[in-house]
Amino acid sequence: MPVAGESEIALIPLDEPGLARLLAAAVAEADPLEVMPPVDGPEGWTDHRREVFLAFHRRRSLDPETAIESTWVVEFDGATVGAARLRPVSADSALEVEAGVWLIRSIRGRGIGRRVAAVLLESARDGGAARFVATTTVDNTAAHRLLRGTGADLDVHGANVDARLEL
Ligand SMILES: CC(C)(COP(=O)(O)OP(=O)(O)OC[C@H]1O[C@@H](n2cnc3c(N)ncnc32)[C@H](O)[C@@H]1OP(=O)(O)O)[C@@H](O)C(=O)NCCC(=O)NCCS
Repeated sequence: MPVAGESEIALIPLDEPGLARLLAAAVAEADPLEVMPPVDGPEGWTDHRREVFLAFHRRRSLDPETAIESTWVVEFDGATVGAARLRPVSADSALEVEAGVWLIRSIRGRGIGRRVAAVLLESARDGGAARFVATTTVDNTAAHRLLRGTGADLDVHGANVDARLEL
């Protein structure tokens, strides 16, 4: 999925080679807690946590028997720099999609997250979704600004912030 008008960014549907590149990018330039759910054990990119990362994406995106979401590898100038995902969830009678994105540290703060969010929104609309939602933490200012920039309303619930945008 090329990003309109910005040829150097592309969102590529996740596959096994892409997953290997994604893990390498995460290990090199992201904290595990930024890119996957918490895993018990020593901090950092332990062998166990790397296996959990791979299993997480295989289960949720790659295995047709268990897949619940679509994940894309974010590429910038041909390099793997992060991931974006959309998970359809049913809410009320409308189709709602829950979104997530992470980027490697060295390219954050350059407007790439904003451009990736725009592609996710377009994809959600094209897929017939009526509502776009995302959750982050109260201390994640970049994520708040990114989400608010889409036009979403933000609600604080304890340590979390829920974003919601009617499409
Ligand atoms: C959140 C994340 C995807 C944002 O992507 P990004 O490319 O860094 O963001 P952008 O450069 O497009 O900026 C988006 C907005 O955040 C603001 N922003 C970016 N980095 C920021 C920082 N470190 N502190 C405060 N605001 C920041 C920008 O000014 C912009 O706001 P504006 O439109 O009001 O000017 C990225 O920082 C990231 O991968 N973080 C770790 C994983 C994560 O937290 N994911 C989000 C979970 S919902």
